[in-house]
Amino acid sequence: MSRPVLLDCDPGTDDAIALWLALAAPEIDLQLVTVAGGNVGLERTLPNARAVLGLAGAALPVMGGADRPLIGVFRSETQVHGMDGLGGVVLPEGPPAAPGLAADAIRERLRTAAPGSVTLVGLGPATNFALALATEPALAGRVAEIVLMTGAVGEGNWTAAAEFNAAMDPEALAILLGCGRPVTLATLDLTAQALVTPERIAALRALKGGACLHACADILAALPPSRRFGHRGAPLHDPCAVAWLVAPDLFTHRAVAASVVCEGPDRGRTRIDRWGRSKIPANARLLETLDAEAFFALLGAGIAGLR
Ligand code: RIB
Ligand code: CA
Repeated sequence: MSRPVLLDCDPGTDDAIALWLALAAPEIDLQLVTVAGGNVGLERTLPNARAVLGLAGAALPVMGGADRPLIGVFRSETQVHGMDGLGGVVLPEGPPAAPGLAADAIRERLRTAAPGSVTLVGLGPATNFALALATEPALAGRVAEIVLMTGAVGEGNWTAAAEFNAAMDPEALAILLGCGRPVTLATLDLTAQALVTPERIAALRALKGGACLHACADILAALPPSRRFGHRGAPLHDPCAVAWLVAPDLFTHRAVAASVVCEGPDRGRTRIDRWGRSKIPANARLLETLDAEAFFALLGAGIAGLR
């Protein structure tokens, strides 16, 4: 049974892999891809999203949206993703973007959806989804679940306090955490368990696949090994959020109260109460552990099935 999904992203090396996994998964009926500025500027993330979907031959609307956060200035993360956003991997140009703006398209899709039927997957700064839901709050009732790669229980990767997506637009994340619909969080603490190592890249390259698998392996090989993990590899963030919809049995999770700091030096820090100390009712599901071997096997098998 596949579920309707609207996916927002900022490709972005890991976003690209996540898009291919979403396209490959029969559990996901990917209906719309919207794009924000994030890892690199919107002038790059939008063509990158078009190219990623084009390589897979996906005929679904891709639309640009926010090129900056709700409040504050745009900042990017070219150190990890390169100036082009795909680690220097060059893909053929994809089909043109659909006309219009992301937040409007998200609202149009939700307005015609049945109650509680649409899953939102957020892989970048949450600006586009927040603009849609803040403009028409009643549309939250059409949302089944919001799955986000965002935040951290522990230390951040943009500042000591804040993970990149949360730090880029904490006000947008606060809107999603407060919209009353179930939010599933794939934080840095989870994605750290999905370490891209040379051995895992070699295993992908050993699979029989097409252009998408080859590009996936090339993009993964371009990820700079992280000093946070002793240069053993790089965490693969966004595909973890998509994998939750494809193979939830690979995860353990718990209900938590989650919020985000919007002021001061810890702006963007996610406060995730794993033990209920705050007595605040749980508003999110925290993904805690991942079967990494099964995750990479799922990733390889899925993307090998694309053209
Ligand atoms: O902190 C990691 C997240 O920020 C990932 O989604 C990555 O693509 C960037 O958007
Ligand atoms: Ca991303």
